[in-house]
Amino acid sequence: MRVVQVPLEDRSYPIYIGKNMFSDLGRALLEKVKPGQVLLVSDENVFPLYGGRLIEALDNSGFTVTPVVIPAGEESKSLAWVETLYTRALEAGLDRSGLFMALGGGVVGDLTGFAAATYLRGIPFVQIPTTLLGQVDSSVGGKVAVNHTLGKNLIGAFYQPKLVWVELSVLETLPEREFLAGAAEVIKYGIIMDEAFFSYLEENWQAFIAKDPEVMAEVIAVCCELKTRVVVEDEREAGLRGILNFGHTLGHALEAATSYSFYLHGEAVLAGMQMAVYIAENKGVLASAEAARLKAFFSRIGLKQPPATISTEQVMAALRFDKKREGETMVFVLPQQIGQVAFYRDVDYSSIEPVLNKYLKTSLD
Ligand SMILES: NC(=O)c1ccc[n+]([C@@H]2O[C@H](COP(=O)([O-])OP(=O)(O)OC[C@H]3O[C@@H](n4cnc5c(N)ncnc54)[C@H](O)[C@@H]3O)[C@@H](O)[C@H]2O)c1
Ligand SMILES: [Zn+2]
Repeated sequence: MRVVQVPLEDRSYPIYIGKNMFSDLGRALLEKVKPGQVLLVSDENVFPLYGGRLIEALDNSGFTVTPVVIPAGEESKSLAWVETLYTRALEAGLDRSGLFMALGGGVVGDLTGFAAATYLRGIPFVQIPTTLLGQVDSSVGGKVAVNHTLGKNLIGAFYQPKLVWVELSVLETLPEREFLAGAAEVIKYGIIMDEAFFSYLEENWQAFIAKDPEVMAEVIAVCCELKTRVVVEDEREAGLRGILNFGHTLGHALEAATSYSFYLHGEAVLAGMQMAVYIAENKGVLASAEAARLKAFFSRIGLKQPPATISTEQVMAALRFDKKREGETMVFVLPQQIGQVAFYRDVDYSSIEPVLNKYLKTSLD
């Protein structure tokens, strides 16, 4: 078992990473909290696979578990479900000595974390992420949120968990498409902050996607360490944390222009990162040799082709809408070399449009 510490003063917590370690969870939990009530939130896909094992482990350590199973999918990240969680917790008599636990992907984690941040003005929260995206991204860093009908993640908080439990064996049941989408965020860390990690991914990519246990443990631990480094510097996203948005400006625009029903988030981010590499190269901030190395790696992974019905204008409109909502000039995160990015406020639409056009009309690679 590996442990990555997230040092945030009184909000510090450990991320445990390992295989077949559910039976150790109770012991780790007891280092942080007293035995008490647990509201265990999971979704209809994950709960039948892992809920029983988890409840048994918690039971054996003296916790009393109230499970709540939500429908799978983004629609469950709603205020209506937050209210249902409050109701179940109140009915179970869960007081401030209890805790909320999320067993699932980013949807379950974000929803449960937001409910925990506000129930009785905040009670302990534990994350057991079961998607690759959850394990390397959404469970680390304390951003929790639900969606509003007017936009995604608009109602939220910064609320750190008491611990994060990354059980690697759960990825064996994760659909392949979800795994590859999560892998986009893995690649992102290499490009934005760690050239040596990017080289490791180049060398071990096949083993990683074949879920070789050692490679997977290494990759996930490094991602948690890298994200931790950013979060510790800038917990509330005043500046540096924005580098994690590499590939996300165009990625979000692609997701929005297709009504969030065509791309998985990571698939859109992968396309967004590739376009950002072209924009950086055209702008002269990224050397051609570095760009070529990135493009070669991307071509090994493959790029999701856009739907035939979507136009450059639609994606540009989504990009402009995002900018308007944020009320500031568009900030692009661009690579200067592999392992290093910077913020650019001077990327104009005319330099984005041809690259987007190329992606939408043909293919980037
Ligand atoms: N808080 C953050 O910092 C942060 C960062 C990135 C993304 N997010 C949020 O995360 C959400 C996306 O998360 P996600 O990609 O994990 O999606 P998800 O939670 O919807 O899970 C994807 C699918 O996989 C299924 N699944 C999960 N684990 C499984 C397993 N081990 N075996 C079989 N099936 C499994 C789920 O039931 C679901 O159908 C979005 O709402 C996004 O806004 C949050
Ligand atoms: Zn992302």
